[in-house]
Amino acid sequence: MSLKPMEDYAADRASLDPIEIASRDEIGELQLERLKSTLTRTYENVPHYKAAFDTAGVHPSDVASLEDLAKVPFTVKEDLRQNYPFGMFAVPREQLTRIHASSGTTGKPTVVGYTQNDVDMWAECVARSMRASGARPGDMIHVAYGYGLFTGGLGAHYGAERLGCTVIPVSGGMTPRQVQLIVDFKPRVIMVTPSYLLNILDEMEAQGVRPEDTSLEIGIFGAEPWTNDMRTQIESRAHFHAVDIYGLSEVIGPGVANECIETKDGLHVWEDHFYPEVIDPETGEVLPDGEFGELVFTSLTKEAFPIIRYRTRDLTRLLPGTARSMRRMEKVTGRSDDMLIVRGVNVFPTQIEEQIVKINALSPHWQIERVKKGNMEGLCVHCEANPSNASEPERTAAAAVLEKVVKDFIGISVKALVHEPGGVARSEGKAQRVVDSR
Ligand code: DLL
Repeated sequence: MSLKPMEDYAADRASLDPIEIASRDEIGELQLERLKSTLTRTYENVPHYKAAFDTAGVHPSDVASLEDLAKVPFTVKEDLRQNYPFGMFAVPREQLTRIHASSGTTGKPTVVGYTQNDVDMWAECVARSMRASGARPGDMIHVAYGYGLFTGGLGAHYGAERLGCTVIPVSGGMTPRQVQLIVDFKPRVIMVTPSYLLNILDEMEAQGVRPEDTSLEIGIFGAEPWTNDMRTQIESRAHFHAVDIYGLSEVIGPGVANECIETKDGLHVWEDHFYPEVIDPETGEVLPDGEFGELVFTSLTKEAFPIIRYRTRDLTRLLPGTARSMRRMEKVTGRSDDMLIVRGVNVFPTQIEEQIVKINALSPHWQIERVKKGNMEGLCVHCEANPSNASEPERTAAAAVLEKVVKDFIGISVKALVHEPGGVARSEGKAQRVVDSR
């Protein structure tokens, strides 16, 4: 099966939530009304926020316009850690329907909670995201995001049910079984991290299943950064459309923003529920739309765990709406904490990915190792040969090509090691792109 044109998947405008295509004035009015009530509720019910506002000398009544939000202090992950586990909730614990948590790399997990209204709103946002991605009521959806405290599996699951789909709650892992279920059940849509999808595609090949012969037409990929070059690579290999879904547990989970399949030009932020800002990560100053910086979110409708000016550490920029009136965020380049500084040059792992996926002799599995030799720090890029280019001389040649393009396009010298197929660690969820051996 070949890729049908993107436009064929565009949602019928009558099926959209009216606010998705409302005027900017209408959206702004709704946002301001919701923002004021969120600030008041949060100030009154969450001691952390009351203290933070008081220290900054602002009161919710000082916010008379959306721009006034800039007066309000930021919230950072450390604030959530300090209030572990339930200190940031704005409702009594008995009113929570659900708890999720994200493990993070260090310290205690970040705990988030949902009332029934929050779970419903979240399901609506994911259903909207899935519709933007081309999914329709009646579709069968294979969910391979992990189920559990991670928001990916259950978030996708409730959204798919809300849209009126048949959900296959596979979760991550047991890759041979993933392929068997795709072949036997014939889902139209798969929801999975892009790195795990690549792993599933390899398993298909190992089983002699041609991706183009499967029923899959759409993949909804998120939970980790992936580039437009990776999209091209996935679509040509998998023969289905690859659409980006973004979210984070502190804000709700998946479904904060999503691409429209007919344009694939960045992710529309569901601004009626999540108010985005982009700031200069150094100064905290709010940047005009179009400028690149750190994404900050304020929830507008959440009850249990309202979040005010949360610094996501994700780097991107805001752009005007296209297929929807809501503003878009460009594909996330990476997290500020993932940025590598190599002899004074800033590098994001996604920049390395861009170079790897352009080289035909390489398959798109990769990992960056930070190494230290004497006083010199450097990067070693581990990747894999395509099965058809796996001889020793071909691997050596591919490594030399990668080193050259990284030097030419990014401006840093790295050591590239091209392993045999299967030589780089595989992901079953979020890929670990950087390991530190210093
Ligand atoms: O990863 C929620 C999610 C699940 C999103 C499934 C999409 C699909 P957390 O575990 O809290 O939540 O991790 C959130 O993952 O701040 C980003 O750094 C990264 N991230 C999520 N989606 C994308 C994406 C889920 N589409 C963190 N592109 C975020 C780039 C993403 N990075």
